Amino acid sequence: MSGIPDLTALATDAVAEIAAAPDLQVLEAARVGFLGRRAPLTDILGSIGTLPPADRGPVGKAANAARMAIERALEERREVLEAETMGAALEAEVADVTLPGNAYPLGALNPITQVRLEVEDIFLGMGYSVADGPEVESAYNNFTALNTPEGHPARSASDTFFVGQGDSVLLRTQTSPVQIRTMQAGPPPVYVIAPGTVYRRDDVDATHSPMFHQVEGLAVDEGLTFAHLKGTITVFLTRLLGDREVRVIPHFFPFTEPSVDVSVSWTDRHGRTDWLEVAGAGMVDPNVFTAVGYDPERWTGFAFGFGLDRIAMIRHGITDIRMLYEGDLRFLEQFS
Ligand code: PHE
Repeated sequence: MSGIPDLTALATDAVAEIAAAPDLQVLEAARVGFLGRRAPLTDILGSIGTLPPADRGPVGKAANAARMAIERALEERREVLEAETMGAALEAEVADVTLPGNAYPLGALNPITQVRLEVEDIFLGMGYSVADGPEVESAYNNFTALNTPEGHPARSASDTFFVGQGDSVLLRTQTSPVQIRTMQAGPPPVYVIAPGTVYRRDDVDATHSPMFHQVEGLAVDEGLTFAHLKGTITVFLTRLLGDREVRVIPHFFPFTEPSVDVSVSWTDRHGRTDWLEVAGAGMVDPNVFTAVGYDPERWTGFAFGFGLDRIAMIRHGITDIRMLYEGDLRFLEQFS
């Protein structure tokens, strides 16, 4: 059988090369090389008719066997490579659930709100509950029932924003009217705080704003003394601000007697250490008890009103109250 290539060797070589194809592209090139139009085996298969009749049978058989062996090898290798490709793709595309997600800006609570929530927590822990009242208030609740009769300087238009005609409805100048509302709502004992927004025609400067926030406190019970007031305020300020110097000095409020001013030490924006007034306080005036129908011979109590904005300033070393209201993200983001 001279002139006829060794088909067994051709098939063996081809099968080995196919089995070693590293990827589908090389495999396809091998298919073209071994079975394509210009492949030697294709030539042989096409020229069988030209062979001497005696050779046609054996050569045809051997060539067909070689083709089938090559086709099977191609098929097997293709299956293996496709599975590998699929596996690699799955591995590459697998979702890594430990990657951080997309961050969306969430916003945060204003420092005043943060302080209010902390103040509420501290007083809730001391057995107080949280009361609420409207910002548009009657002059009776804001002043008259609080022992601040008509003609008192605090009632004049220079301090108060009145609503509508006349002077009977106003923007509350303090949270103290919630004392009246709470006592009118039920008998002692009373232990409440009332945080909220208040309004005054104050000039704007670094520590004053015409809108600010207070938290009122009121305790009414049998046998309450000034010692209870001082102890409560000291515990509260220590819990909120840590160890700081607290100064309590005599003051005047129409609805407490005796009355005090509470200040804590702080450093202002010029670097000077000074006292910053954070609260007014005192023993509830008997006239206030009479106004709400409590027996002043039986009950005593104390009240205090803290400025929440001031506390937020001390807390965070903020030297200008106006920054709390300007909505400047560069400032607010520091507290998120
Ligand atoms: N309401 C007073 C003020 O706004 C503060 C205060 C509250 C004083 C309760 C005494 C008792 O200045």
